[in-house]
Amino acid sequence: MSPPEPPGLLPAEVEAAWLALGERATGLSGEEALERLRPSVARLSDLFTLARPAGGFPDYLADASLLAAYGLFFFPQSWARAGWALAHARFRGWAPGSARPRILDVGSGPGSCGLRLARGLGGEGELRLLDRSPSALAAAESLAAAAAPGWTAGGTVGDARDPRAWPQGPFDIVVAGFVLNELGLDEAGRDAWFEAAAAHLAPGGLLILIEPALRATAEPLRRLSDRRATLSPRRIGPELDASPCPMLGGEHWDHEVRAWEAPPSAAFLNRKLHRDLGAVRFSLALFSDAPLAPSDPAAARVVAEPQLLKGLFRLVVSAGGRLRTVEAATRGLSKREAKDLAAGFARGDLVRVPPGDDRRVEAGALVRLGP
Ligand SMILES: C[S@@+](CC[C@H](N)C(=O)[O-])C[C@H]1O[C@@H](n2cnc3c(N)ncnc32)[C@H](O)[C@@H]1O
Repeated sequence: MSPPEPPGLLPAEVEAAWLALGERATGLSGEEALERLRPSVARLSDLFTLARPAGGFPDYLADASLLAAYGLFFFPQSWARAGWALAHARFRGWAPGSARPRILDVGSGPGSCGLRLARGLGGEGELRLLDRSPSALAAAESLAAAAAPGWTAGGTVGDARDPRAWPQGPFDIVVAGFVLNELGLDEAGRDAWFEAAAAHLAPGGLLILIEPALRATAEPLRRLSDRRATLSPRRIGPELDASPCPMLGGEHWDHEVRAWEAPPSAAFLNRKLHRDLGAVRFSLALFSDAPLAPSDPAAARVVAEPQLLKGLFRLVVSAGGRLRTVEAATRGLSKREAKDLAAGFARGDLVRVPPGDDRRVEAGALVRLGP
């Protein structure tokens, strides 16, 4: 069996499929097509961050140029985020219960999350996609052969707000990537939506919610995740336990910042846009009733950028509903050794730290567990 692809890596054949769509949308080829699409990327980027419309999002993927821009710049990032979500679930020991799994991608757009998950599960399976945008669904279907060979992909035009209208379950995975925040639901509406979405899961199935890393979208997801932590399906990640998020209401808010590799076309588009493509940022919540092995009692989650300072290496970790700062002296280490120590840890990692409240720990006692 070949080793799993890195979570953040978009396969070249998927990028090539998007380039072909971009060339068709612009009537240009190669870099000229990308140059023409750059303003569309900027428009989408502003829509998702600065200009978030109060009255709801328009069907921005109906426009061929905006769809191609989405595919070349945002799809690879969503792909990476879904890859990390699956890596996390795998780390917890989750696996699909059926030999030919079924995935439902709600608010799928062009299938960024569903196709990534299908590819990650490998083998054969069925991917169902639901979106209000027929052109996005058509793109997802046309990408499936390159993105998830062995899988069938079928789109349904429908309303993500109304789970009763979704394709029939049961599904091994239901995923909603960067869509919950576009549905305009209040807390009670989100809870009802969650219940109805979870009703589409097979026994032991996995519900994956991914939201933007903005405070305005990440905090509502953490609150939903806390409310649901011990209910069915229970929270299995990224937190290792059911304790409430200790960062809610604080100066900083919890979100993932994960490594990825921007495909060459995204890097080209970004030459004049100067967006931060160094990492993918998002907020994540995973739920499943699958029987999983209990996590290591000394495990904790790194919730801030690790810091290599003069004479010490610092991690801020979250476990049991508490934040803890742990510091390892690097005085006895060479510069190279200290750098190697720091390079072994990243924000979002699950790590083993010595139990107790001590701030000062031995460097050797800090162990990265995954994912
Ligand atoms: C930001 S995109 C995310 C697409 C994809 N899940 C991803 O992670 O890249 C949000 C998607 O949700 C869809 N959407 C928003 N509101 C919807 C609704 N009420 N019903 C169906 N789809 C909706 C949009 O058409 C768009 O494709």
